[in-house]
Amino acid sequence: MTDGGATGTGGAGGSRPTRDAPRTMREARIAAAGRRARPARREGNPLREGLRLDRMPDPATIVLFGATGDLAHRKVFPALYQLWRSNLLPLGMRFVAVGRRAYDDATFREEIRASVESHARVQPMDADAWKSFAERIGYLRGDFADDATFDRLAAVLDADERERGAGGDRLYYLATQASAFSEIVRQIGRVGIDHEVAGGGWRRIVIEKPFGRDLESAQRLNREVARVFRESQVYRIDHYLGKETVRNLLVFRFANLIFEPLWNRRYVDHVQITVAESIGVERRGAFYEETGAARDILQNHLLQLLALVAMEPPATFEANALRDEKVKVLRSIAPLRAEDVARDVVRGQYGPGWVGGEPVAGYRQELAVDPESETETFVAVRLAVDDWRWAGVPFYLRSGKRLPKRATEIAIRFREVPHLLFRGSGVSPDTNLLALRIQPDEGILLRFGAKVPGLGVDVRSVNMDFGYGTSFGVDSPDAYETLILDALLGDQALFTRSDEVEEAWRVVTPMLEAWAGGGAPAFPDYAAGAWGPDEADDLITRDGRAWRRI
Ligand code: BG6
Repeated sequence: MTDGGATGTGGAGGSRPTRDAPRTMREARIAAAGRRARPARREGNPLREGLRLDRMPDPATIVLFGATGDLAHRKVFPALYQLWRSNLLPLGMRFVAVGRRAYDDATFREEIRASVESHARVQPMDADAWKSFAERIGYLRGDFADDATFDRLAAVLDADERERGAGGDRLYYLATQASAFSEIVRQIGRVGIDHEVAGGGWRRIVIEKPFGRDLESAQRLNREVARVFRESQVYRIDHYLGKETVRNLLVFRFANLIFEPLWNRRYVDHVQITVAESIGVERRGAFYEETGAARDILQNHLLQLLALVAMEPPATFEANALRDEKVKVLRSIAPLRAEDVARDVVRGQYGPGWVGGEPVAGYRQELAVDPESETETFVAVRLAVDDWRWAGVPFYLRSGKRLPKRATEIAIRFREVPHLLFRGSGVSPDTNLLALRIQPDEGILLRFGAKVPGLGVDVRSVNMDFGYGTSFGVDSPDAYETLILDALLGDQALFTRSDEVEEAWRVVTPMLEAWAGGGAPAFPDYAAGAWGPDEADDLITRDGRAWRRI
């Protein structure tokens, strides 16, 4: 670090003594807001209240490993800037960016500026906010395998905190390639910057996904992390849990009386969860070759959505109460045997095709992808949650790249009414459906039968549709904003616990092993712009059901 992170001019945002003092009107405002930052309430529609924050985090230093990488540029820094701009971080914040490239503070900040300009949620950029944010960023060049990097990091952190009289709260954020996680954790332990000293600040670590490649490697990584950090210091991130509509799933289920009585095998026929993307692998070919759809989306995002849909009501909204319930669901998923994989799992890979009216390349033609790659870009699976609530209700999950559109949705299809009075009197309605649209066009749709106006008794399905955009006039925070703030506040509810991540791998590992053991299907097996290979339809139609048209 050459300057900035250690020499910037912070202020009194938190409870600990600090020599930082507000310099500008804007900084004075943040300082005055102190620990209770509440953006102004808008008049009129009571739903339009905006983000309320009851606590502002204490000033902390965020050490970001992998600072020159894609994730840091596209997600982490834009989210940090956005939090800063929204006055949700105290003035005493510092950001230490650790990366391999030969930058100094100024060039690194310029790079980040460009990323923030294109990826921050609120545009255009606020020049004042950017200036005060940027001067808190310092760059530290180093290799993760090199002891000297971590010796220097420890010295920089100590010197900076001593100089500012700051309390020493530190968040280590691992946004590197997964292969570097163990080494960074080990090095943090070696130089002792994990230690929380009595009366000093806290130390926490945020670890990105994928957390492991299979059950065994996830267990190993958990053990390595546990040698250095207590579980209460560890924040395994799955950004889907930070999405506003995913968090609303909990509110929808547990703050309403009318749906929960139906939320079980007596009334639900089956559940479908779709995470569809229209993009390909973009510039992440090398990453994706190592990952594939099952590790990239199924093991984490899809199984987390399933767990939130299927779990029992937690006793409280406290992190462990919530995570206990999710773990129970994951444990109840019937293990897949080799013959189940052949029948209940479908993988696919896109070939050339058309998406959004444009011709696009096939996966094997993407940058940094093996022209004979057997990596799957699509996965669909039929799972059974063997517990009292869900026995006999199939959960169909699917995700893929280069599908016709970007859409994440959970659809609950209800059973038929026990006795249909109106049979033969015209078109029969579909069974009831509840669709929770996670993105885009966030909302909730309820489909039910209604009488067609006229003298007869024709029944048709109609929609009752709630849209976030029209009901709430505010822009939702990005998932990364929510999650980084939670980590700074010490709230682990939306982060995955060690046993949870292992249970999710327990579900996915048998299919990875079965795939590794046998030949791949004849890839590519779906054209870009199609809803996956034909087998994905067979997976559900052979049960007499169909994927919902999204
Ligand atoms: C990431 C995956 O976790 O989620 C990406 O690594 C994927 O491959 C992304 O594109 C999807 O996230 P979102 O928020 O755009 O739905």
